[in-house]
Amino acid sequence: ALPEQVTIKEVGPRDGLQNESVEVLTADKIAWIDQLSRTGLSYIEFSSFVHPKWIPQLKDAKQVALGIDRNPDITYAALVPNQKGLEGALETGVDEVSVFMSASETHNKKNINKSIEETYPVLKPVIEEAKNAGKTVRGYVSTVFGCPYEGDISAEQVIDVSSRLFDLGIDELSLGDTIGVANPLQVDRTLTEIRSQLPFDQLAMHFHNTRGMALANVLVSLEHGITTFDASVGGLGGCPYAKGATGNLATDDLIHMLHEMNIQTGVDLEKLTEAGLFIQSKLDKYLPSHQMQMCTKE
Ligand code: HMG
Ligand code: MG
Repeated sequence: ALPEQVTIKEVGPRDGLQNESVEVLTADKIAWIDQLSRTGLSYIEFSSFVHPKWIPQLKDAKQVALGIDRNPDITYAALVPNQKGLEGALETGVDEVSVFMSASETHNKKNINKSIEETYPVLKPVIEEAKNAGKTVRGYVSTVFGCPYEGDISAEQVIDVSSRLFDLGIDELSLGDTIGVANPLQVDRTLTEIRSQLPFDQLAMHFHNTRGMALANVLVSLEHGITTFDASVGGLGGCPYAKGATGNLATDDLIHMLHEMNIQTGVDLEKLTEAGLFIQSKLDKYLPSHQMQMCTKE
């Protein structure tokens, strides 16, 4: 049987905006996140504390963190690559931090300028200090279903990097289809292979919708019992260090499917759609989700 309830982690303000070329004003980000905070979402990844030269779109992470109206029912999380990023995040009183690395050597190097082996000693103290500060820590593994530089990634590679992160103390792991290449059979195969190797109830799935397969991949994940999914409203997003990575799975399309299937999310689709239309109005493009296109057409 499929799960009756699913947790959606809204990553649009981070994964979405990091790949938009139009500069969104800090005040507009704050207004948008406040709007998202009133939709019933329980988790918002609001920004990242990375180098502003690498991701200039999110250089205002601190102002955003301090400007938003924090809803006590929501976990506000930020991405941090190292101790400097963690310091910034802790200064703003985030609820959770997310560390990230890749199952692919080349993507890891291009994204965070380190080999996979060099990354663990960087993340170890970050995870420790975050936990000492009373924060939960999420881990991301990228390129789980394929890498733009290396092609196929084996389940062994994914299990190896993921178990190292669990050993370092992460509370949850999000498996990223960074460039949206996963197909449903592959998701089925990978989840079957990793089931006995990783703490399965601490896994989340993070699909990008580059080839329109994200919802199909969600369905297979639901059949495996996964109940946490990352998504970005309107399908905003991508990864600037992975060529061809377009938007995330759209939160609005995901919610529509789940609600139609009688799976609860706690999110009000109408309010979420309004938040999507708001951020769309600040970009010079139409957002790709079906829900946004339906609501935008005259
Ligand atoms: P680096 O150049 O190797 O850093 O970059 P470094 O440690 O050698 O330091 C160089 C300079 O950067 C120093 O300044 C540091 O202080 C500064 P200087 O002394 O030269 O003046 N610095 C920082 N400044 C601000 N914030 C920081 C920070 N750290 C060092 N946190 C680094 C390494 C990791 C910093 C860089 O590569 C970086 O910022 N990368 C970010 C990449 C990124 O954000 N990618 C997108 C997110 S991942 C993703 O989208 C995938 C995901 O969605 C899942 C999926 O879809 O698969 C999560
Ligand atoms: Mg992503």
